[in-house]
Amino acid sequence: DQSGLAYSVGTTLDRFIKLKQSDFPFASGELSQLLRDIALAAKIVNRETTRAGLSNIGGAFGQVNVQGEEQQKLDVIANIRFMRALSKGGEVCAIVSEEEDAVIDLQNTSGKYVVAIDPLDGSSNIDVNISIGTIFSIYRRKTPTGSPIQLEDIMQAGTEQVAAGYVLYGSSTMLVYTTGCGVNGFTYEQSLGEFFLSHPNIQAPKNGEIYSVNEGTQREWEDGILAYIDQCKDRRYSARYIGSLVADFHRNLLKGGIYLYPATKKNPSGKLRLLYEANALALIAEQAGAMATDGTQRILEIQPTTLHQRTPLLIGSSEMVIEAESMISSLA
Ligand code: AHG
Ligand code: MN
Ligand code: MN
Ligand code: MN
Repeated sequence: DQSGLAYSVGTTLDRFIKLKQSDFPFASGELSQLLRDIALAAKIVNRETTRAGLSNIGGAFGQVNVQGEEQQKLDVIANIRFMRALSKGGEVCAIVSEEEDAVIDLQNTSGKYVVAIDPLDGSSNIDVNISIGTIFSIYRRKTPTGSPIQLEDIMQAGTEQVAAGYVLYGSSTMLVYTTGCGVNGFTYEQSLGEFFLSHPNIQAPKNGEIYSVNEGTQREWEDGILAYIDQCKDRRYSARYIGSLVADFHRNLLKGGIYLYPATKKNPSGKLRLLYEANALALIAEQAGAMATDGTQRILEIQPTTLHQRTPLLIGSSEMVIEAESMISSLA
């Protein structure tokens, strides 16, 4: 990495993106611009989020999304903000969003990129002032530019991601992303309106002592998950569960730990969505030396068949994920 000397903690996101542009095999500047567009939308959502309690944007929007979830106002606002940012720049041809039933075809056939996005992750935490997030995956379209987008441009496995990231609107706001050459984290400086590199080259601990799972669903777990969580307790690990995937993932990435949203008897595919939740975090996990699996298979290798398909997710420190996986397979 020849740009290694040119950035350090405190480098702005803009400058970092420019310096790292050479990491892309087909560097044309468009992916860089796309990342900047996403960062701008994140700043706007951050602004809305931090004043949510004052500006009457808490609470339900009054509609149900395609998942059957009641949309919160901030779900809708964040979706609009990201849609706008992604459609104005010209780099994107299609968007998949949690809050949109169908693929959004931007009718921009010169756009090289497809984006899958969870505009606002952790909806149930908006009104109670707890960390929420945004998750995004970026793919290069498979069919040539100039032609209409096809299903194969959208239904790509996670291994095909050219970049992925998340924004955490937490005690501070952070943007963490990868372009397949390691993971870097940026902290937002509110008064300057800039993201600064604060967590260069994030490396996940190989092991940890935190487990994160919604234990309210325990009665629905398969034996392997039951046995694994029992073992966590035997070892006196700490239970930590925020209920915002981004925040739970981020904590475990930095501190070491495992997050599980397993298959349940009622929902054999779990709850989380492959295209705009699991894949992005799986790429980041792997790039940081952690792992992500659905219990038997690497998340990134799952071939999607539908837009909003769900997947069980076990993600975090590699030794923990391997152990959980082996208990699942031996008790299956
Ligand atoms: P979203 O708010 O984008 O719909 O995602 C909700 C997800 C995720 O953020 C979280 O980890 C999980 O749902 C929590 O589910 P439970 O309430 O079932 O634990
Ligand atoms: Mn939702
Ligand atoms: Mn989500
Ligand atoms: Mn969401």
